[in-house]
Amino acid sequence: MATASSLAAIRLTELARCAGCASKMGPGDLSQALAPLPSQADPRLLVGAETFDDAGIFVVSDDLALVQTVDFFAPIVDDPYWYGQIAAANALSDVYAMGGEPLTALNIVAFPAGKIPVEVLSEILRGGHDKVREAGAVLVGGHTVVDDEPKYGLAVTGRADPRRILTNAAARPGDVLVLTKPIGAGLLTTAAKQGRVDDAVLGPVLQGMSRLNAEASRAALALGVRCATDVTGFGVLGHASHIARASNVTLRIDPSRIPVYPGAREALAAGVGTGGAVRNRAYLETRVDWGASTAEEQALLVDPQTSGGLLAAVPSARVADYLSCVAGAVEIGEVVPRQGHDIALA
Ligand code: CO
Ligand code: CO
Repeated sequence: MATASSLAAIRLTELARCAGCASKMGPGDLSQALAPLPSQADPRLLVGAETFDDAGIFVVSDDLALVQTVDFFAPIVDDPYWYGQIAAANALSDVYAMGGEPLTALNIVAFPAGKIPVEVLSEILRGGHDKVREAGAVLVGGHTVVDDEPKYGLAVTGRADPRRILTNAAARPGDVLVLTKPIGAGLLTTAAKQGRVDDAVLGPVLQGMSRLNAEASRAALALGVRCATDVTGFGVLGHASHIARASNVTLRIDPSRIPVYPGAREALAAGVGTGGAVRNRAYLETRVDWGASTAEEQALLVDPQTSGGLLAAVPSARVADYLSCVAGAVEIGEVVPRQGHDIALA
């Protein structure tokens, strides 16, 4: 039986080759890998892979669609309970990003059995269970493999009304862009892994990443919003570019308005960086009119997030209502008719 102090001495992030969604394959590589595969046309598939959406939507009947998604990653924080909560909130988020309500979840686990105490896994799973329950969903099972690098996440099934969903493809010129959580989580979790930030700085990021996007999603649906995604491994600009291309519009974003976690700029200035940010930047280089943005702003805008907020295109008449009912929501730009780039920074 492992003691509490022996569990606390285990640094989970040391077992991860790279941190969190920073380990996601770059969007360029992913597109290339998927290119030779035939797209499977089925009239019941309301949202498939073509629009870069967060989850697939499969229509069962006129008023019922299934929303299905899967997400898992290696430890991004050392504490197993926080890790479990964050991984689960991140996986559940893709259902919320489509306007769905989570129904069921399956645990996906890779664990170095025999090398670290199984109590660590119990804490990871407890974090996941607590978030699934908070979401009003039910854990129905899971699958485990032995692996030197731990990994945890969920496959989630939700329900949605097929006539009222949130997709990348529904942004209209005149809509206002709203972001519901700060960015900089990739920089801060990487800095923490390197022992360069203390618990006081990490605290707000842990709280932010473990927060469900339930309220942001339900408020969007209630106000007639049709376009949203969640900000994860491709960073604000990567996910914004998915909206721009799926909706055939340009997103004008004001970098100075983007909320940033305290300490992220300091981590950047201290030389912290991620491979994910480098890949995102390369992919976005020609898709973005970088305008007069600063190097710091650009680095934050391509920082890969884990369990980030919703990025929603809100009809301008409903923006005030949305901002007043979603904690932390901030206006960051607007949707304009398609121009030369996916995104213009101004
Ligand atoms: Co997503
Ligand atoms: Co995902």
